[in-house]
Amino acid sequence: MHLAVFLLASVLSAATFALDNGVMRTPPMGWLAWERFRCDIDCKNDPKNCISENLFIDMADRLSEDGWRELGYVYVNIDDCWSSMERDENGRLQADPKRFPGGIPKLSRYLHDRGLKLGIYGDMGTHTCGGYPGTTLDKIETDAQTFADWEVDMFKFDGCYSNATEQEKGYPLMSKALNATGRPIGYSCSWPAYQGGLPPMVNYTQLGEICNLWRNYGDIQDSWDSVLNIIEWFFRNQDVLIPAAGPGRWNDPDMLVIGDFGLSKDQSRSQMALWAIMAAPLFMSNDLRTISSEARSILQNKMVISINQDPMGIQGRRIVKEKSDIEVFWRPLSSDASALVFFSRRTDMPYRYQTSLSKLNYTTGSYKIYDVFTDKTMILKDSTNFVVSVNPTGVVMWYVSAPSKLNRLQFYRGGNVQDSVYTGDENAIPRVFL
Ligand SMILES: *[C@@H]1O[C@H](CO)[C@@H](O)[C@H](O)[C@H]1NC(C)=O
Ligand SMILES: *[C@@H]1O[C@H](CO)[C@@H](O)[C@H](O)[C@H]1NC(C)=O
Ligand SMILES: *[C@@H]1O[C@H](CO)[C@@H](O)[C@H](O)[C@H]1NC(C)=O
Ligand SMILES: *[C@@H]1O[C@H](CO)[C@@H](O)[C@H](O)[C@H]1NC(C)=O
Repeated sequence: MHLAVFLLASVLSAATFALDNGVMRTPPMGWLAWERFRCDIDCKNDPKNCISENLFIDMADRLSEDGWRELGYVYVNIDDCWSSMERDENGRLQADPKRFPGGIPKLSRYLHDRGLKLGIYGDMGTHTCGGYPGTTLDKIETDAQTFADWEVDMFKFDGCYSNATEQEKGYPLMSKALNATGRPIGYSCSWPAYQGGLPPMVNYTQLGEICNLWRNYGDIQDSWDSVLNIIEWFFRNQDVLIPAAGPGRWNDPDMLVIGDFGLSKDQSRSQMALWAIMAAPLFMSNDLRTISSEARSILQNKMVISINQDPMGIQGRRIVKEKSDIEVFWRPLSSDASALVFFSRRTDMPYRYQTSLSKLNYTTGSYKIYDVFTDKTMILKDSTNFVVSVNPTGVVMWYVSAPSKLNRLQFYRGGNVQDSVYTGDENAIPRVFL
């Protein structure tokens, strides 16, 4: 599709309705316990890492003291295994009294005092995936009210131990029940992941009306294989998924595992770059107390965050997929800007990929390029051939400013036309042909 036609189509589809609770107009950002800390409830032997109020307090301290909150990482989300095995005498969920002695209200106060928000987890079904009390259809209103009473800001509704009929009733009912509490609570639905993620089983129009975000696909694990598998599924199905996303309603490819054990530096950049292209929620699941400065600088990269958080909220797409294992991704951004990601699946050596902006359907003149991970800038004409050098399983990511009719002087120096050639080498200034 031509750029302009695609843009128009995207804008039109973005005009369909989103859940009207006013929250998550850009993809939510924060920290979520599951991938890194799972259902570790052994506080006796593993007090620093078990699911307890201390873990969430530690992460809240790190978010507010280490520069995360200012960048938008404001949610601190509890996942499975937080509750007691029994509901209380009034049939309400309650936190495990040993691991959460102050209860959930203490945590939400602690977070709100620091400008952070609290997310909590439940399950549409008889039990959570970890075997804790679930929310059956008759408990939906009670549980929604409990979360609102606790001043929770986000709710993830998993789908273990229920069938398709119950889910079809339960997910919309919970949306209504959350709304009826009067408290704006971001609503994350795992529903589509339980229905294969695709139409006709999944109705994305309906999801956008009842949920703020939804898990389309399986859980992420701390490995490149897992990240790659998710990337492949989301872009293979992009024509279904892109129109589903927009302000207030997001596809969720699952947590960022940057800063854990499984990804190299290049793979970490790839996850960050492609999650930004996908307008994905950015929930880190890592240990912010011990994270490396390398991982932190990728997660705290302002340019990639601003691309992720672009207010138009249009999810990007894969525009090139070469048999030779290079792929190019593109996302339209506000102010006529865009983002490009060159991604190499090769595992041997840096891929020297030659192309031009016109081959990528940029048609109108000259563009200012900002390299997101090297902070280098340059000017490129649409017709100029350039070479990007993309590391194995890595990316080169560009923020491309609006086209401008640049002064001829910028292209002439000493009377010669100049074409920039981008080498992708982090330490090299873009070479120039005279
Ligand atoms: C560029 O646009 C043409 C015509 O709409 C389309 O066939 C082609 O796939 C597009 N190429 C890219 C890289 O988007
Ligand atoms: C509940 O839904 C109505 C109608 O869509 C909306 O105007 C209102 O803001 C919602 N309230 C909350 C708390 O989500
Ligand atoms: C789903 O579960 C309910 C019980 O909660 C049962 O009545 C119903 O028959 C089940 N439906 C299917 C399609 O299995
Ligand atoms: C999907 O949901 C929308 C909104 O709830 C509804 O209007 C539409 O009929 C549904 N589509 C199908 C195929 O069920």
